[in-house]
Amino acid sequence: MATDKTALIIGASRGLGLALASEFSGRQYNVIATSRGSSSKLAELEAQCSGRVTTETVDVVDLESVTALYERLNGHKLDVLFVNAGVCKANELTPLQVDESDFLDMMLTNALSPMRIVEMFHNLVAENGVIAVMSSEIGSIENSAGFWELYSSSKAALNMLMKAFSQRHPQDSRALLLVAPGWVRTDMGGSNATLDISESIPLVVDMIEANFGVSGLRFTDRYNKAIPW
Ligand SMILES: NC(=O)c1ccc[n+]([C@@H]2O[C@H](COP(=O)([O-])OP(=O)(O)OC[C@H]3O[C@@H](n4cnc5c(N)ncnc54)[C@H](OP(=O)(O)O)[C@@H]3O)[C@@H](O)[C@H]2O)c1
Repeated sequence: MATDKTALIIGASRGLGLALASEFSGRQYNVIATSRGSSSKLAELEAQCSGRVTTETVDVVDLESVTALYERLNGHKLDVLFVNAGVCKANELTPLQVDESDFLDMMLTNALSPMRIVEMFHNLVAENGVIAVMSSEIGSIENSAGFWELYSSSKAALNMLMKAFSQRHPQDSRALLLVAPGWVRTDMGGSNATLDISESIPLVVDMIEANFGVSGLRFTDRYNKAIPW
């Protein structure tokens, strides 16, 4: 059964983003899936999905590229905006050890860039729609055990910026979600992660669908359970 819903997935070349694009398209959404370079896996999904998946190019850290995507999509009505793109570098290092450029890359890609996209694209999202950004369980300051401290700091910064955005838009009726997908086996999550993609992403999409029409900010896991900030 076709739906008239549209999901924009930013950062869908591989891993969780590709799986989000595949899951939404399997649920009959029209999916606009972005990558920053060519992605044979995303091209394959597009080819399999007979018009339901279209692809776009954007590098999230490049504001010109983000603005150009916005101009191409202006006029679309989105039900879901999901900013998934992220990087993890120097995960075992401490502030004295890290190469500054690695830390800055994480802050730029994981915190500032997603929020520039939310800021720019939020008016394309339906009033009962969902704006989601991929955060992480380890972005919780309260629950922190110090794991991957530099990367987790970038997700905590993302959470703070999303909170600030919600404070500046108190009347906004859209759901604003910081999503923690669990520790998942991807290039970033590594082979020791506890979950297969198939144990995470379908639940993440169930959770997104449960948030249509539920306004406000939440830091949530894949079961739609709040995570302490
Ligand atoms: N895996 C986990 O356990 C886990 C847990 C919690 C949160 N997360 C978060 O979930 C998201 C996806 O992670 P993943 O595990 O799927 O990682 P991944 O396999 O390393 O994939 C990262 C994705 O982000 C894209 N990306 C990175 N920088 C980008 C940029 N400047 N512009 C556009 N796209 C960019 C990558 O594109 P390219 O192919 O071009 O590099 C790729 O599609 C990230 O935000 C991550 O922090 C992951």
